[in-house]
Amino acid sequence: MDRTELIKKYISFFTENGHKEIANASLIPENDPTVLFTTAGMHPLVPVLLGARHPLGKRLCNVQRCIRTQDIDGVGDAVHHTFFEMLGNWSLGDYFKEEAIRLSFEFLTKALKVPVERLAISCFAGDRDAPKDRESADVWKSLGIPEERIAFLGKEDNWWGPAGKTGPCGPDTEMFYWSGEGSPPKKFDPKDSRWVEIWNDVLMQYVKDEKGNYCEAAQKNVDTGMGVERTAAVLSGLDDDYLSSCFLPIIRELERLSGKKYAGHEKEMRIIADHVKAAVFIIADGVTPSNVERGYVLRRLIRRAIRYGRLLGMRNFVPRAALPVFDIYSDYRFLEKNKAVVLRELDEEEKRFAKTLEGGMREFERVAKNQKRISGRDAFLLYQSYGFPIEMTLELAKEKGVKVDERGFDEENMKHQELSRTASAGVFKSGLADSSEETKRLHTATHLLNAAIKDVLRDKSIHQRGSNITPERLRFDFSFGRKLTQEEIRKVEDLVNEKIREGLPVTAAEMSPDEALRSGAEGVFGHKYGEAVSVYSIGTKGREFSREICAGPHVKNTKELGRFKIVKEEASAAGVRRIKAVLERDVHMV
Ligand code: ALA
Repeated sequence: MDRTELIKKYISFFTENGHKEIANASLIPENDPTVLFTTAGMHPLVPVLLGARHPLGKRLCNVQRCIRTQDIDGVGDAVHHTFFEMLGNWSLGDYFKEEAIRLSFEFLTKALKVPVERLAISCFAGDRDAPKDRESADVWKSLGIPEERIAFLGKEDNWWGPAGKTGPCGPDTEMFYWSGEGSPPKKFDPKDSRWVEIWNDVLMQYVKDEKGNYCEAAQKNVDTGMGVERTAAVLSGLDDDYLSSCFLPIIRELERLSGKKYAGHEKEMRIIADHVKAAVFIIADGVTPSNVERGYVLRRLIRRAIRYGRLLGMRNFVPRAALPVFDIYSDYRFLEKNKAVVLRELDEEEKRFAKTLEGGMREFERVAKNQKRISGRDAFLLYQSYGFPIEMTLELAKEKGVKVDERGFDEENMKHQELSRTASAGVFKSGLADSSEETKRLHTATHLLNAAIKDVLRDKSIHQRGSNITPERLRFDFSFGRKLTQEEIRKVEDLVNEKIREGLPVTAAEMSPDEALRSGAEGVFGHKYGEAVSVYSIGTKGREFSREICAGPHVKNTKELGRFKIVKEEASAAGVRRIKAVLERDVHMV
């Protein structure tokens, strides 16, 4: 089955069953410091899964673009991808196990016409935290799945969450499709890789508290995820995702560009196809190659694709290899809109790396020759002088059976104040957002700051250009053409602190995007909103100091914030200023 058809069928099925389709959000999470990229459809929904109201109601669905970076070096087999699309449906305290499972079963067997004989299921086996999920298994049985096709597995396979240390979590139940030849064995063996996992229903039944107890949740949610690439492939009878409609045009282009066949060069072509596709989407969502955070992931992807391209004899090929991505994903209009920028960035990064790649490879051979271990200094030299991401050196070294002193590399790197890898590794390993109280307070402070800047500078054309919040500080970018004076900075600070002292209520209301903008609410320029949005107001009705379209979460009253302090004001880009600020917990203010 082709990708577009699968997505269309999914969205139609769930909207016919009372779900509202929500936007396919950016790969760059908004106001979430804990991850670099959107990794699942539920990601932009963390605040509503934690209990905030969603303006579109309690039943939602969408297709979400995702990036998972944990396993970049694992890409090269038939089923792993950095970029993928996830189909999902959500119940926010609405239906639970029985209906979630029935909907999944009906979609598979009726809409996709998958024969029941080709399906198998896994459920949570139970442990000391939570009992065996017999309930889900019984629902599957009542729908016609035989007991021997249901396996019970532990937490590592059939449990989700919580996102942070505490919060909603619960068992999940996964659906497997028989991709092997002939009729499937009667009994389901989860270790048999011909059973391919295609869908996961997470049943958020519990809340984990500070003490580590799992308590029954007041609001029980359902969060599901179906991988588009894998499902499209198995339903087309393919055991290699790269031969499905999500990849094949890129593979064909690589065959043309290299003059080599996919058969026999699968690993190289899969890596290039995956990495180039991911790079296209990441750039289109506003990231450029650099040595920190997202830019560094992007750089690693492009450079790894280039190195594998060399193994196939290709040079100056990245933009051309990227072209089919725009055709496969022609339904993403923002891709086409950003095509010129994407191709230029890819080309420039390729040119930059091409200058040093050969020299770097020679240097690598030299430092690895007759060695058991490459020193931190040498690895750092490869990084600094030849642009070899450390992951590339590690990969090359592994191929040769040589070790690398990674700690030594990190120490060298620190010395040069180029802390990128450790910082970003921490971020993309730490999992999903956990809206801590600190982040919430800084988020509300960001709204006050946005309003105060406009007020003090007396310029209504000032708009937010970016926001990034960690539990320690906020960072706010806005359009403005010059440096702020000391006096202006002080005035902004004073105004924010005045609004904090006034103890203004923070309230949310739902309305259409048009209504919101007409009512004077701030929105993100050029952002595509759904049918309804939440508008957060700070201040009493009719006398609001700030109104913004926003997904939350926020504190209830500004008096919870503490003392606001700007620690830095600087240029961020042409015509864009950046403010970093903190909240100091001051007893006199509470
Ligand atoms: N969020 C769930 C997953 O990632 C559905 O599998």
